[in-house]
Amino acid sequence: MCGIVGYVGPRQASDVLLGGLARLEYRGYDSAGVAIIGDASIDVERKVGKLANLRAALDDAPLVGSVGIGHTRWATHGAPTEANAHPHTDCTGRIAIVHNGIIENYSELREELAANGHALRSDTDTETVAHLIESYYTGDITDAVRRAVRRLEGSYALAVVHADEPGTIVAARKDSPLVVGAGTDENIVASDIPAVLEYTRDVLVLEDGDVATVTAGDVVVVDAGGAAREPERLHVEWDLAAAEKGGYEDFMLKEIYEQPTAIRETLRGRMGADGTVQLSELDMTDAEVAAIDRVFIVACGTSYHAGIVAKSLIERWARIPVEVDVSSEFRYRDPIVDPATLVVAITQSGETADTLAGVREARELGARAFAITNVVGSRVTRESDGVIYTHAGPEIGVAATKTFTAQIAALSVLALKLAQARGALSPERIASLWEEISLLPEVVEAVLADTDGIEACAAEYTGAVSSLFLGRGIGVPVAMEGALKLKEISYIHAEAYPAGEMKHGPIALITPEVPVVVVATQGHTYEKVVSNIQEVRARGARVIAVATHGDEEIARHAEHVLYVPRTSEAISAIPATVPMQLLAYHIAKMRGCNVDQPRNLAKSVTVE
Ligand code: G6P
Repeated sequence: MCGIVGYVGPRQASDVLLGGLARLEYRGYDSAGVAIIGDASIDVERKVGKLANLRAALDDAPLVGSVGIGHTRWATHGAPTEANAHPHTDCTGRIAIVHNGIIENYSELREELAANGHALRSDTDTETVAHLIESYYTGDITDAVRRAVRRLEGSYALAVVHADEPGTIVAARKDSPLVVGAGTDENIVASDIPAVLEYTRDVLVLEDGDVATVTAGDVVVVDAGGAAREPERLHVEWDLAAAEKGGYEDFMLKEIYEQPTAIRETLRGRMGADGTVQLSELDMTDAEVAAIDRVFIVACGTSYHAGIVAKSLIERWARIPVEVDVSSEFRYRDPIVDPATLVVAITQSGETADTLAGVREARELGARAFAITNVVGSRVTRESDGVIYTHAGPEIGVAATKTFTAQIAALSVLALKLAQARGALSPERIASLWEEISLLPEVVEAVLADTDGIEACAAEYTGAVSSLFLGRGIGVPVAMEGALKLKEISYIHAEAYPAGEMKHGPIALITPEVPVVVVATQGHTYEKVVSNIQEVRARGARVIAVATHGDEEIARHAEHVLYVPRTSEAISAIPATVPMQLLAYHIAKMRGCNVDQPRNLAKSVTVE
């Protein structure tokens, strides 16, 4: 999710790199750097903070050369410091690389490289790749990169230079985007199209497994099997604003569509070959984990809804009682917390003041506090006993979407870990649950591949003033999140209720003008949900049901059905959420609202 730019051609590389990186700034980053091939050597400049810091350093001491690579880093391994900023170099300083993605087996590679005498200087997974390439280098940088990437597990987009081959950038990718902007006598490697638009609108798209040798006059691509491949060539018509959004109309829509990747990255490497859930961040022995007798979850907004989903998973799988508190309530209610309590703070930004206060409160009371966050180096990571990262990448839309489903993915791993440590589930059950969880990216892809019905449904409710969202069990937090999305971005009043509780009050609101959105996916309370639908319909409600593919029956009870693929009930929250996000999105757009920056809301709330 960081930004990569590489340049080879007649211009001063540092100018092109800074310009290209600036075009990727909207994605968010915490440090930046460039490596320029100068007179038979590589010079590196890196700075923490904004590109302006790097630019100032390069103004003071320009790096001259017409080949180079640059990077804006959004930390994933190691704090946002100069030492962890890219480019990283090998022991000789003659190889420099920039990388996006996550190398899962980096600890193992790091140990191997250190044992062979390599001196690693950062906390990053990326630096291991620089040394790995060094260990394979025998005079041909493309060959060394090809051998090195065969050893990598995880995701990567790489741009690599070697001082001995000063006219070449080697680019390689797997599960992380990388393109080459094809100019005249110049080529630009980039992680995203906006970075190349100033120079060219012709873009070569690299595929997973490709390794490209990029010189000023040529781009030679070889696929994972070693065969030469002609890459797809696109002519991009987008203007810059459209390109930043990847061609989507808004960041929110782009981020909704990024969910399969966000979930996949968050789950990456979480199950060992021996069937054990990998959560070394907990830094607790299985005996310590087994001694946890209660879990408290503290969070705000969308993260709070992820917490309620987690309660259901942890109680169901690990059989530990879980309480979920809105952070601003937790700290003032004298909670019963002791050293056997695990407190889990969920916060996308890692900066929410109330959630941070909850963490402090919990630790003062002697509990161990863990954070689930999307931002490496954020405050919560410094104030907690441990951190589990979601790897959703920067989220720009104020309304949380991909970070919510990534949080649920991370919390599912935590719930499985607790269950395993306590022996609450058999190894076979854990294996089958994991199999289902790891299919979630594909399940979400399937939802996103078929959204015409959602748009048509949205068109009928753009004039609504008020709405109800109902669900049962795990469907309750899904309904809460659906209601939050709709009210945040469309300004239609939306209230979520447990479906069974609706007749104790909200049913008085029902009229044909109040749409009722019901989470009616398959599960042990499905029949009850159908009865609740009948209750509201009998009062004239128009119902939008989120239901499981193949459930023809539900269509008799609802004006609109938004289908999602069948999953087991426990993991249905993620797929059921996606149509709700899109429903809110389309209604808001049709009402002419600014979905990326809704009125009165902030992405990160750092005041109490
Ligand atoms: C704000 C944002 C929400 C977010 C909430 C909690 O209200 O607009 O999208 O869910 O804060 O933020 P956190 O960063 O702690 O998850």
